Amino acid sequence: HSDRLRPAVATTPPAAALSQDELKRVAAHRAVELVESGMVLGLGTGSTAAHALDRIGELLRCGVLRDVVGIPTSEWAAARAAAAGIPLADLNTHPVVDLSIDGADEVDPALNLVKGRGGSLLREKMVEGASRRFVVIVDESKIVSRLGGSGLAVPVEVIPFGWVLTLRRLRSLFDGMPGFNLKLRTASTDAKASTFDENGAELEPFVTDNKNYIVDLFFEDGIHGDLNLISDEILRITGVVEHGMFLGLASSAIIARNDGMVVMME
Ligand code: 5RP
Repeated sequence: HSDRLRPAVATTPPAAALSQDELKRVAAHRAVELVESGMVLGLGTGSTAAHALDRIGELLRCGVLRDVVGIPTSEWAAARAAAAGIPLADLNTHPVVDLSIDGADEVDPALNLVKGRGGSLLREKMVEGASRRFVVIVDESKIVSRLGGSGLAVPVEVIPFGWVLTLRRLRSLFDGMPGFNLKLRTASTDAKASTFDENGAELEPFVTDNKNYIVDLFFEDGIHGDLNLISDEILRITGVVEHGMFLGLASSAIIARNDGMVVMME
């Protein structure tokens, strides 16, 4: 798919190297240039999307943008967007979204993504799947040759009921794949829920906005095989709500590179 790589915009490399957060901001601001007055916007979740939300708020305040309405992809995005002064709505009143802007954990050469490190994959997939255009904003570190290849989790949202059984079924799906591992995501702080694993040990699960749990899948060398087939197999497990592979959903990616160039891939 290298023919899909199209350098769209090149900027002069800055004198000093940019931090990862500055690169996220550069990508986010470039994406916000695509926003037009009157649009219904899908509002992403995470530290990269935060820059886009803040920028949209700034442009609304100074009158460059008017009459946009945002569909947040998480409770976090709703709060951040409200603080930035972006009027909010939901998918029920606005089932067609003009443009979504969101970060990702991984982007492969065919523009397939892994998302959900923040746990918002379900609402993100619903909003971004309802979008005429979905622009992914990332710094260069998110680019992988194979999904699952960065060592970060590929998340699967599961219902709390019987999660141990669902986790077992997910494990048998990938049985034999070298270096495969999986575990229930636990809350790092302020755990509000409690559950027990198959050995009776108490765990404090991470709970999504939809009151579900997350099982994180780890692939030492990325996911081998037909991604669409693997996606179907995961979704066929009763108890699975959604997974964090976003296949064929992104229209383009704006990548801020360490050398100061901004590249658009589509
Ligand atoms: C949250 C997501 C985020 O977009 C993804 O985790 C990237 O986050 P960040 O911009 O903070 O690196 O999918 O569910």
